[in-house]
Amino acid sequence: MSGIFITFEGGEGTGKSSHARNLAESLRKSGRSVVLTREPGGSPGAEEVRALLVTGEVGRWSADAEALLNYAARDSHLRETIRPALTRGDLVLCDRFMDSSRAYQGHAGGGDMALIDMLERSIVGRTRPQLTIILDVDPEIGLRRARGRGASDEDRFEKKGLDFHRKLREAFIQIAAKEPARCRVIDSSRPYEAVAEDIRRAVAEVPGAA
Ligand code: TMP
Repeated sequence: MSGIFITFEGGEGTGKSSHARNLAESLRKSGRSVVLTREPGGSPGAEEVRALLVTGEVGRWSADAEALLNYAARDSHLRETIRPALTRGDLVLCDRFMDSSRAYQGHAGGGDMALIDMLERSIVGRTRPQLTIILDVDPEIGLRRARGRGASDEDRFEKKGLDFHRKLREAFIQIAAKEPARCRVIDSSRPYEAVAEDIRRAVAEVPGAA
């Protein structure tokens, strides 16, 4: 696989989706073939699973059931979207990926970490991101930003409470500490352009990306 795989991660309201879109646009302008995608979702089957995960009652799934559903969606997304794009040599920008399962279902959700590790080994396998940008912001600010975006029925995880969201932040920081070569933590409480500039700099360090 000759393409480049970059993921965006972070809690709610950290600005991931907007920065991922912005980066995709600027890379396309410089002539790069970019596939911008998201999780859960990114293939027809995975988008159907997304609706089960992000809407409805907070307690409708256990953390382990969420891990299984996310990995069912991820398997479809990898087979139908991500791996074909990487094989073509495209640059794949993915708004959330495997680290969200570790953080949301594992560390913050209290799910079985051995199950998540096993799913990651089996389903992600060697299709791991070369770079993961973790946007970091105080969860109180993030949740306020997320809620300020207006009414959406995709709020199941937003409703999980501040304690859950504090644990999420901790989880992403721990992931970055464990894999410093892959992960860059960027302070997203700063002005938009300063964050975008740090993202561009991190991407420019990936061989062949910029
Ligand atoms: P989004 O709001 O960034 O589009 O993501 C949808 C929600 O799904 C978000 O609240 C985080 C959650 N999620 C997980 O809990 N586990 C996962 O593996 C992924 C990819 C997302």
